Amino acid sequence: MHDPATPSTRLNGAPADSDQHSLTVGNDGPIVLHDVHLVEQLAHFNRERVAERSPHAKGSGAFGTFTVTQDVTAYTKAAAFQPGAKSQMLARFSTVAGEQGSPDTWRDVRGFSVRFYSSEGNLDIVGNNTPVFFLRDPLKFPHFIRSQKRLPSSGLRDATMQWDFWTASPESAHQVTYLMGDRGLPATWRHMHGFSSHTYMWVNAEGERFWVKYHWRSNQGEVNLTNEEAEKLAGADADAHRRDLYDAIERGEFPSWTLHMQVMPYAEANHYRFNPFDLTKTWSQKDYPLVEVGVMELNENPTNFYAQIEQAAFSPSNMIPGTGISPDKMLMARVFSYPDAQRARIGANFHQLPVNQPITAVNNYADQGHMQYQHTGGAPVYQPNSFGRMFSDAQGRAEEGWEADGPLVRAAATLHAEDDDWGQARTLLTEVFDDEQRDRFVDTVSSALSGITDAEVMARALQYWRNVDETVGGRIEAKLSGGGA
Ligand code: HEM
Repeated sequence: MHDPATPSTRLNGAPADSDQHSLTVGNDGPIVLHDVHLVEQLAHFNRERVAERSPHAKGSGAFGTFTVTQDVTAYTKAAAFQPGAKSQMLARFSTVAGEQGSPDTWRDVRGFSVRFYSSEGNLDIVGNNTPVFFLRDPLKFPHFIRSQKRLPSSGLRDATMQWDFWTASPESAHQVTYLMGDRGLPATWRHMHGFSSHTYMWVNAEGERFWVKYHWRSNQGEVNLTNEEAEKLAGADADAHRRDLYDAIERGEFPSWTLHMQVMPYAEANHYRFNPFDLTKTWSQKDYPLVEVGVMELNENPTNFYAQIEQAAFSPSNMIPGTGISPDKMLMARVFSYPDAQRARIGANFHQLPVNQPITAVNNYADQGHMQYQHTGGAPVYQPNSFGRMFSDAQGRAEEGWEADGPLVRAAATLHAEDDDWGQARTLLTEVFDDEQRDRFVDTVSSALSGITDAEVMARALQYWRNVDETVGGRIEAKLSGGGA
């Protein structure tokens, strides 16, 4: 690799004339267009980036293994979850709103993406470090992300815009309570839990269906930063979380998470007290306790960040037999949105890149497109055909579906007794947080609200927190108007 006798080459493999000196017409004369190596270097440099992810641009990840330790065959036939199964994995952690290069320790939700390279194909669970989300309808997602990014005028992030959106979207209250609580500032990625957030489906070998939620419990424990610590780190080391994961793995300190599931029998969805497909709600663990499945250990750093992390294309559409989506409309939209973003961001053949290839054969008739790399020679690229390239048709998914269970509606009539926007946020704030967590929460929210410059948005923000909890809302208001809390 470092043999100085090996000449550098142009991209066609022929020796490059020089990596130090451009070709010029005489001393100090003009450079020439036919200095192919120079032109190639400049042109390739101009195309060195793929578009960053929008959202979740800043992040990093590592490879590892998932080992099944318990028997969950009663709930799923997926090969990756059968007793004793071991799969290679890739995980990527990220912030949501920041761009590439933004500090890892700004207050935000953290992405928690996991890929199983299973013997039945890639299974991706693309989740967060919180069990809920800001919205329940995908039509609002692009609006939400724009409100958290930058003002069209100044290019600055803006508290008024953020709170304008949140307070006009009351379903955000539960997730904003998580965000403004301690979990908004994880100490490291190793010290946070992960959640599918969405409800997914599992199907067992008998064809029985279950609604499930994935919970990744950090075996390092949950540790968070204070506002002061996070702010200091943001200045001292914008890559603190990326560095922490990389260094821990280099030291041989492999972080691990234990996967647990909440499992709901199919028929119980109709009358559970919360709509189980509403992404702004959790299921009580008293109703659906955690069922242990196995352990993910991250033990291998990427050898090339760009090829293996930047070009990694996670997607909720990557499912395997025995797993599936639920009627959560956010999830259904994501199944379309991710591969579409990746076709635009990386290219039509993004799935052919080594990091995105499954370990199973891809028997598919998709052909050509930018950067096609894998091909089947002269074999037919259509079916039915009479020339030997015919794959069997499993017709597997139809009987596992739920799609025809009801009429088409835009806003479903609620069938669930406790489906309001404030109740679960109130439980989190008043029953799950302890006194110190609540004190920090009041500090954080009042400081976040102090950036609002519009009186109406401010009034709505104060009402929003009073709706969650009258007492805490009152404390936030008192603190903002200069009084104690
Ligand atoms: C309708 C709702 C949503 C839409 C349309 C959406 C769309 C997207 C898009 C287009 C990307 C960039 C993908 C890429 O370029 O590779 C992305 C990234 C991501 N999203 Fe979402 N998203 C939605 C909701 C969610 C939710 C609810 C979660 C968590 C439960 C989530 C977690 C993530 C994560 C972790 C990433 C980064 C993936 C990675 O590590 O590469 N998103 N999202």
